[in-house]
Amino acid sequence: SRTRHYTFHIEYHNVTRLCHTRSILSVNRQFPGPRLIAREGDRVLVNVVNHISNNVSLHWHGVRQLTSGWSDGPAYITQCPIQTNQSYTYNFTITGQRGTLLWHAHISWLRATIYGPIVILPRQNESYPFEKPYKEIPIILGEWFNVDPEAVISQALQTGAGPNVSDAYTINGLPGPLYNCSSEDTFRLKVKPGKTYLLRLINAALNDELFFSIANHTLTVVEADAVYVKPFDTDIILITPGQTANALLKTKPNFPNATYLMTARPYFTGRGTFDNSTTAGFLQYNQPSHPHYPLKNLPLFKPTLPAINATNFVANFTNKFKSLASSKYPANVPQKVDKKFLFTVGLGTTPCPSNTTCQGPTNTTKFAASVNNVSFSLPSTALLQAYYFKQSNGVYTTDFPTNPTRPFNYTGTPPNNTSVSNGTKTLVLSFNTSVEVVLQDTSILGAESHPLHLHGFNFFVVGQGFGNYDPIKDPAKFNLVDPVERNTFGVPAGGWVAFRFLADNPGVWFMHCHLDVHTSWGLKMAWLVLDGTGPNQKLQQPPFDLPQC
Ligand code: C2O
Repeated sequence: SRTRHYTFHIEYHNVTRLCHTRSILSVNRQFPGPRLIAREGDRVLVNVVNHISNNVSLHWHGVRQLTSGWSDGPAYITQCPIQTNQSYTYNFTITGQRGTLLWHAHISWLRATIYGPIVILPRQNESYPFEKPYKEIPIILGEWFNVDPEAVISQALQTGAGPNVSDAYTINGLPGPLYNCSSEDTFRLKVKPGKTYLLRLINAALNDELFFSIANHTLTVVEADAVYVKPFDTDIILITPGQTANALLKTKPNFPNATYLMTARPYFTGRGTFDNSTTAGFLQYNQPSHPHYPLKNLPLFKPTLPAINATNFVANFTNKFKSLASSKYPANVPQKVDKKFLFTVGLGTTPCPSNTTCQGPTNTTKFAASVNNVSFSLPSTALLQAYYFKQSNGVYTTDFPTNPTRPFNYTGTPPNNTSVSNGTKTLVLSFNTSVEVVLQDTSILGAESHPLHLHGFNFFVVGQGFGNYDPIKDPAKFNLVDPVERNTFGVPAGGWVAFRFLADNPGVWFMHCHLDVHTSWGLKMAWLVLDGTGPNQKLQQPPFDLPQC
């Protein structure tokens, strides 16, 4: 293994999409940002230099960061943000992971434009547990705003209303030909016939779970969140913000020269406004033996995507993921559990400040979101620093409620009282606790799917279902043999998901909905995992250049 050095300059960069030019926040004036490539076992050093007027921090989404929590990146959780003209070097080792992940800004809504792929190749002498691809192609789904996304979220938080939606979805930063003023901004993938391509799919969108498909082609999913899965074929992929997946695309040996659209559009279960538009790119066959037609004369094929609220499709699709669970890549599912938690996740409200009119659910309330009725407020210093230097007083408490604090009944009437409480509460685990968490979507303000992301760990998704979780009947159906191992998984709309993980990584670890609007409203919490006593069971010392608040 080796050490890989990167320098990421956070800079302004003029980008035009949909005939709107905006000075966006970028890394190295690239949009999407640069590819970070490493092999399993490599050490990665990324020197981040902040040249913009906003504070910034970067997160290596899904990288386990074993004992290196100082490099995880969520602002005010593991570090204070990097201020203007300051720099910070993230320093971590890729341990036991291979596949695709993503990196993104982790403060406010800056990840709208500050994101890019993490490509983790197998160790030098190892191969893939599937056919060696002819080429590997990152496909990053995202969103484009014609206005500054920071203005969108700050206005929403002031008025208490839902934020304005983006103006387009994008494939590798490009909205594609189905939007006005966009046909030049189309991602084109030129392929040769009879080859196998590895698509490294990433959903970097702020607020949308997305369906993805390529006309007339089947995809074979081989990996998810940098863990190999049992290969399965599908025409349509659902990918939530924060999720990644590798899929093989086999081009046909004798397909006519044509343009096959690849498209993505949202899966949406909430209420209120959403944008049901479609981003598209071109898959173009390049057959040397055929005459070359001008693009506009080529036949065009379009895929069909599921309905916007196709919850049953999503449940079936997400159940197809299984760990490889081979001798080389075992699934180390905790078989016995030390601690069980039931958390409700969902929307709620907080009162509107007096003498103002809010545009939230009522004119006296603002939207909020919570875990076990606690809407998490970010502290003004980083939790990890406060913990490490024993300065938790006034920063956080350790009384996170370990069970629901009010009913969440689906079959009956949801509680009238929608209000949530605010707090910076953590949940403390001793080292190597094996944990089972059931996340239950609530019906307060309507059922909605929540892609929950856990920092610092992968978890095994042992079960999911609709309605109220039944602590007697449901565990009997848990898959403890080959459940999928992920870092982000959607709590089904009007349902629950159960996962297990081993708390083998000391530090402070964020868990939140990866729909940024829900994170902004407080659907987030923090685990505090204590040091173990053995070697490599302690949080490392803070780096000398750790930013200060
Ligand atoms: Cu990809 Cu806490 O985020």
